[in-house]
Amino acid sequence: MFITLEGPEGSGKTSHIPYIVEYFREKGYAVFPTREPGGTSIGEQIREILHDLKNTEMHPRTETLLYQAARAQFVEQVIRPRLAMGEIVLSDRYYDSTIAYQGYGHQQDLEQVRSLIHYATGGLVPDLTILLDVDVEIGLKRKQKADEWNRLDAYTVDFHRRVRAGYVEMAAREPVRWRVVDASRAWKSVQEELRSVILENLEQTK
Ligand code: TMP
Repeated sequence: MFITLEGPEGSGKTSHIPYIVEYFREKGYAVFPTREPGGTSIGEQIREILHDLKNTEMHPRTETLLYQAARAQFVEQVIRPRLAMGEIVLSDRYYDSTIAYQGYGHQQDLEQVRSLIHYATGGLVPDLTILLDVDVEIGLKRKQKADEWNRLDAYTVDFHRRVRAGYVEMAAREPVRWRVVDASRAWKSVQEELRSVILENLEQTK
């Protein structure tokens, strides 16, 4: 089963993943956590270029293509082999981030972006995608505090508002694959909801 966690900046995805993994491993599931862009040595190198605050001249199309390059490697080197072994792959971001950030955020043509994604992933779609939804201002503040500021965080607040609106629209359009969790609540309640959403899906696919 392939599960992805998505959300605007500061939605807390990254802090939740280790606890989800521990919980499901204790229940006997083989869970493999990973993150995009990265998860492979080539992907991590591309991530550095993408996140480097020095690269202010990067064009949105360059940005879109670099994410797909990292993703193609990630799908072939990590996701497909793990899924083939019967593991649950839990990824911190996947292609919906490209639709949200490069598509809605940078206002690139959504159809063209989707076809690049299709090329990069070979059509691999997650079984479940969870949107950790949070207000843009709250999220950016959380991220600044956590000292994890990167080149994309420095885009305008309007950019991040479009990203969030894009996520909400995608989740509404594909309600079978997407589940929305309100990430503005206390961390513990968010964690509990994440566990129950995943458990419910695992039981349905048994
Ligand atoms: P984060 O997951 O640590 O927040 O950092 C990843 C950053 O990369 C985040 O700002 C979202 C951005 N991103 C894209 O813009 N497009 C993508 O396809 C992916 C995977 C991430």
